[in-house]
Amino acid sequence: MPFSTGPSLRQCIGQSLAHMTHDSIVARMVAHSTFELAPCMGGAAGVEARKTSRLTLQLGGSLWMRITLR
Ligand code: HEM
Repeated sequence: MPFSTGPSLRQCIGQSLAHMTHDSIVARMVAHSTFELAPCMGGAAGVEARKTSRLTLQLGGSLWMRITLR
């Protein structure tokens, strides 16, 4: 486990701060990026063909995206 290690039972007191920092960094990266479907996905029709329903609607396999920083 990333914030506490095995038998020592010691727990990281900075865990919440680390999560908040992580979330704000990811949010800033996403806000400054453009997401496009990768060509290998075969466009919207390719995504449609990969749709599967297992309790929830899911995509069979991976969703490949092309991410460009703006
Ligand atoms: C990604 C970020 C972080 C990771 C992965 C992490 C991980 C850990 C781990 C594994 C431990 C337990 C070590 C042990 O078993 O002896 C620990 C302890 C601790 N961490 Fe973090 N930590 C992170 C960020 C932070 C931050 C941001 C702070 C403070 C602002 C912090 C303060 C502490 C302190 C004071 C302890 C000792 C707790 C004790 O001995 O009771 N950590 N951390």
